[in-house]
Amino acid sequence: MAFLPNSLVTLALLSILACAAQGQLSASFYSTTCPNLQTVVRSAMAQAVAKEPRMAASILRLFFHDCFVNGCDGSILLDDTPTFTGEKSAGPNANSARGFDVIDTIKSQVEAACKATVSCADILALATRDGVNLLGGPTWTVQLGRRDARTASQSAANSNLPGPGSSLSTLISMFAAKGLSASDMTALSGAHTIGQAQCQFFRGRITGGDTNINATFAALRRQTCPMTGGNSNLAPIDVQSPIKFDNGYYQDLVGRRGLFHSDQELFNGGSQDSLVRLYSTNGAKFAADFAKAMIKLGNLSPLTGSNGEVRLNCRKVN
Ligand code: HEM
Ligand SMILES: *[C@@H]1O[C@H](CO)[C@@H](O)[C@H](O)[C@H]1NC(C)=O
Repeated sequence: MAFLPNSLVTLALLSILACAAQGQLSASFYSTTCPNLQTVVRSAMAQAVAKEPRMAASILRLFFHDCFVNGCDGSILLDDTPTFTGEKSAGPNANSARGFDVIDTIKSQVEAACKATVSCADILALATRDGVNLLGGPTWTVQLGRRDARTASQSAANSNLPGPGSSLSTLISMFAAKGLSASDMTALSGAHTIGQAQCQFFRGRITGGDTNINATFAALRRQTCPMTGGNSNLAPIDVQSPIKFDNGYYQDLVGRRGLFHSDQELFNGGSQDSLVRLYSTNGAKFAADFAKAMIKLGNLSPLTGSNGEVRLNCRKVN
């Protein structure tokens, strides 16, 4: 190396770097092709969250449901057609996943600024980060360069996403299947510090199905979630502060006020109890661990390079 001209050394180093970066995401992916991207997304999310704070939660859940089903590839955004059944109509998403219109609005603003350049998968990753931060949560650097899927998988959506009746061991193994540890799972579950849930997903827990529940809390929830009817009646997942991204969720769990059976499984005498206790008293530790785990979630099997496409309309393939 010492005898090679500098330019050759640089070239060699660059090609090593390029190789290492193959299939990898990068924070500067659009810095020359769409320099205003992050400003456009941030201000659109600020508007959407000002109009309806819950939207930050709905977008965050979309990102989780996108990434857990064949990677963060925007597949959840594809509409069903007469000849195509995608993820929107899968069990965990049907009549539940929301926020698609906000992603459409952001996408059209991004298209106006930088035509056919930015993927729907990357827009969802940025909008998610901004929504969390706008409700008082942490911020983080979003890795970019994901491309959009040309397909979606209803069966993978049905089998890869955990349900609200899941046990701790099921939750741990479903996250392990995505390369995420039990502690990543516990940190990511803190997403339930914002947003709302339908009665049908927690009725069993508040009507006698669970013993590990705060009786006062159960009675409160039964007021709007009766034994029969009211399936889609909403309740905040964090009883304390559903539009503030804080550590209230973990305080709820310690007080036996988890809304879903699956939430309370994180604090039910098992391996995650100590971490739940730590997060319940140390909001800064939760915020830092959540941000790290969100970056890992965002790195799940992205399509990169010439795989997939940059969709022009997030609802349909080009
Ligand atoms: C650990 C296993 C998990 C289970 C069993 C679970 C289950 C659920 C269920 C049943 C709902 C209510 C949906 C409805 O009523 O329509 C919900 C809402 C929500 N989930 Fe999860 N979830 C889990 C993990 C996560 C993760 C990892 C995130 C994000 C990182 C997340 C983010 C959210 C958000 C923000 C909402 C509220 C959405 C809104 O208000 O529109 N969840 N979850
Ligand atoms: C039940 O929840 C109330 C607040 O709703 C709280 O004051 C109380 O300490 C909780 N009880 C237990 C046993 O955790």
